[in-house]
Amino acid sequence: MFEMRPIGHVRSPFKDTKEIPKGCGAKHEAEGVLEIDPELEEGLADIEGFSHLFVIWVFDRSRGPELLASPPSDDRPHGVFATRSPQRPNPIGLTVVELLRREGPLLQVRGIDMLDGTPILDIKPYLSGVPPEKLRRGWLEEAEARNRSRT
Ligand SMILES: C[S@@+](CC[C@H](N)C(=O)[O-])C[C@H]1O[C@@H](n2cnc3c(N)ncnc32)[C@H](O)[C@@H]1O
Repeated sequence: MFEMRPIGHVRSPFKDTKEIPKGCGAKHEAEGVLEIDPELEEGLADIEGFSHLFVIWVFDRSRGPELLASPPSDDRPHGVFATRSPQRPNPIGLTVVELLRREGPLLQVRGIDMLDGTPILDIKPYLSGVPPEKLRRGWLEEAEARNRSRT
């Protein structure tokens, strides 16, 4: 067992999950603020140099886990660990955001998909070393192809 405490909270325009874009082609361009605990501000030193950040957070309002998830981007179920479902054994979310600016312990960001008040566990600089030609996107690629052929 582990004990963690939030390093801060997300200030988001989304008060209800229905307001958050979902499914194939959903664009996450909403702006919000990562409000970091002022006691931890020193830990943000030099973060301004990074254009994008990983935000690790808690699905604090999700229902219990479901090992098979039915993502909005497909009409077939998939194992929860092959999806980004909020209903996970450990309800941890991971979002890549663009860092727009920092004002002390407040990080103004773009690309949030969290509800207002979501607890933040950690922030790390986003660095992707995987070349695009090496990426496989599994069932998502097949679901996108099926959706394209229907339109
Ligand atoms: C599909 S998950 C993906 C989240 C993250 N990008 C990830 O991959 O872990 C995004 C959905 O989680 C739900 N959600 C957002 N914030 C939440 C919270 N604090 N508690 C429970 N569910 C939340 C919303 O329905 C939102 O559309």
